Amino acid sequence: MTSFLSAHGLAKQFGDSRVLDGVDFQLNKGECLVLLGPSGCGKTTLLNIVAGLIQADGGELLCDGQTLEAPERGVSMPMGERRFAMVFQDFSLWPHMTVAQNVAFGLKLKSHSRTEVERLTRRALERVQMSHLAERKPSELSGGQQQRVSIARAIAVDPRVLLLDEPLSALDARLREELKAELSGLLKDTGLTSIYVTHDQSEAFSLGDQIALMNEGRIEQLGAPEDMYRRPLTRFAATFIGSANVIPYQRRSGDFLLGEHLTLSNRDGALNHFPDTGHLVIRREAVKVVAAQTAPCQTDLNLEGICTQRHFLGERQEVTAEIHPGLTLRGFADQTFAPGTPVSLRINTDALHAVGR
Ligand SMILES: Nc1ncnc2c1ncn2[C@@H]1O[C@H](COP(=O)(O)OP(=O)(O)O)[C@@H](O)[C@H]1O
Ligand SMILES: [Mg+2]
Repeated sequence: MTSFLSAHGLAKQFGDSRVLDGVDFQLNKGECLVLLGPSGCGKTTLLNIVAGLIQADGGELLCDGQTLEAPERGVSMPMGERRFAMVFQDFSLWPHMTVAQNVAFGLKLKSHSRTEVERLTRRALERVQMSHLAERKPSELSGGQQQRVSIARAIAVDPRVLLLDEPLSALDARLREELKAELSGLLKDTGLTSIYVTHDQSEAFSLGDQIALMNEGRIEQLGAPEDMYRRPLTRFAATFIGSANVIPYQRRSGDFLLGEHLTLSNRDGALNHFPDTGHLVIRREAVKVVAAQTAPCQTDLNLEGICTQRHFLGERQEVTAEIHPGLTLRGFADQTFAPGTPVSLRINTDALHAVGR
């Protein structure tokens, strides 16, 4: 199956700085691609190129068999012809119009009949549970309600692709959770194809069929959320996603030297497939912190350490333990350890993962 929306080597330069450097992705109809990455990595620039707000200066962008961008051939389809809709972080509503007028605005531009505009406006407002506030002005709404209107306005025109640039970033934590869940349902129910920009991994995990992890203008890794979490390909991916322990190592006569001193034995050759030098990735949940001298468990790797920090997370504690001078590991504990207390760490070796770069 050919993909619905695809980018091939998209590039963009602002002055001397290369902001996008060969971006490739493929998105099937009805899927959500999340562009995830730290501030300044090029997410908005990429989204704006897809929208047609700015032009690429290299590569190609295709949608449903049409070429949207191909700067080498002088092609850049105007924004209005792409039939994409956009949702911004700052809502971008018309302050002098009511909720209903804001939603109807884009529909009127499409020369629908008046009754059709009313029907589509009503349907879009129902989808975001805002029908009862249709006659309010944006200034009479909370941030979460304003963003619902802006989403309604975008989906009302039945866009080929919905583009969202950090739509929840201006909202407080509780509202963000609520709207994240609603958006996830909305995208599934409507079957819309979407690109969603965020720097927040929980949004990326909830919404993305695919996540494109971006770093300095490139896609560092592209994949399903679970693959990205379990099998990061680079140190950047391991560090940015989840809250992993990332420890440099070198292979030494079969075993592995962690940091400067600590040897991790390669029992039964289980770690043979690791590169000779790299970084060991150990997710916090693979490290169980228990009282020192608890009988070791056969299948796990057992380390001794001293608790240096603990954080109460509600359902459990995160404990940081020094396992060697200058080498710490974070894991989870079911009980409270005061800093300075000796602890044992049990690491599920099945969960060990290594990245070479
Ligand atoms: N119009 C512009 N002119 C010059 N530099 C820009 C412009 N837009 C973005 N940049 C730069 O491009 C880089 C990527 O920006 P952006 O795409 O907004 O990143 P993100 O959305 O991931 O935070 C940043 O270094 C930013 O300063
Ligand atoms: Mg941005």
